Amino acid sequence: MRIVLLGKNGQVGHELQRTLLPLGPVSAFDRKECDLADPAALASALREAAPAVIVNAAAYTAVDKAQSDQDAARRVNTDAVAEIANIARATGALLVHYSTDYVFDGESAAAYVESDFTNPQNIYGATKLAGEAAIIESGCDALIFRTSWVYSNHGGNFLKTMLRLARDRDSLNVVADQHGTPTSAELIADLTLVAIAAHRQGQLSSGIYHLTADGSTSWHQFAQHIIGRANDNGAALKLSSENIHAIGTDQYPTAAQRPKNSTLSTAKLRQALGIALPDWTVHANRAIDQLTKLETPT
Ligand SMILES: NC(=O)c1ccc[n+]([C@@H]2O[C@H](COP(=O)([O-])OP(=O)(O)OC[C@H]3O[C@@H](n4cnc5c(N)ncnc54)[C@H](OP(=O)(O)O)[C@@H]3O)[C@@H](O)[C@H]2O)c1
Repeated sequence: MRIVLLGKNGQVGHELQRTLLPLGPVSAFDRKECDLADPAALASALREAAPAVIVNAAAYTAVDKAQSDQDAARRVNTDAVAEIANIARATGALLVHYSTDYVFDGESAAAYVESDFTNPQNIYGATKLAGEAAIIESGCDALIFRTSWVYSNHGGNFLKTMLRLARDRDSLNVVADQHGTPTSAELIADLTLVAIAAHRQGQLSSGIYHLTADGSTSWHQFAQHIIGRANDNGAALKLSSENIHAIGTDQYPTAAQRPKNSTLSTAKLRQALGIALPDWTVHANRAIDQLTKLETPT
């Protein structure tokens, strides 16, 4: 079974290069090798590889920049996704695609289920939601995974930003009134393999699934967790978790509005695959240890 991976250098794409291998030969593309903003390049890459599975880990993910760069965000997150879906429909390939917690407005007190009303509050979320709609409209065979607060040791993310800032700063203000679930790119890639295998066996049907770690936290608690664990590991930081101060979203204005609660219920995926999902701290601790333990004096 031949697989095409788009966006191989992103956080999730990097991990997928490893986890997809047991399925068959993987043709992996970065932006230079296949630019999603270039429909002809996209069509020719997919035609040439003739994959049974297309995994699209490429996306326009600069949430704030998207507010002033709508056309570029729409091109990658909506139009290119529609083109990929139409090719998948025409060739009978399975499309695996990732979407976001930012399709919701965050007003619900409960964790969102897949069928909940969507109401994105920013351009990024709107373009990702339109990408989901284009896939469904195409009628292709597809697994769409909505995930959230992605981090990894590869690429830029909140966890690495906190560790970087903690080397130079002895106090930090972090937003405490947005809640969600930090999710490791490793976990997403591992479960993508499990899901594709289950789909091939007829055990997982096409559709939208929420794929995050278990539990929920705020950016402030996440930051305290990262810095507390890094300090326990003996990392050379100026910042302690007590000096991370909770602030409100109104005290940290950003171009894009973000949902107050974007926790996703993963019950549908857990039940379909017969799996448990680890608490968000499990993979976070692993990442923090990998990034900081080398600094521990021996
Ligand atoms: N990051 C999060 O917190 C988060 C949260 C919820 C959902 N998601 C979703 O999860 C998926 C994976 O996210 P991620 O965190 O792995 O994203 P990421 O690290 O930002 O990686 C995205 C990748 O897409 C590539 N890309 C962007 N524009 C492209 C284009 N025109 N043509 C080809 N490739 C292009 C980027 O290439 P360059 O390196 O060249 O820019 C990058 O390698 C995405 O669908 C995202 O929307 C992410």
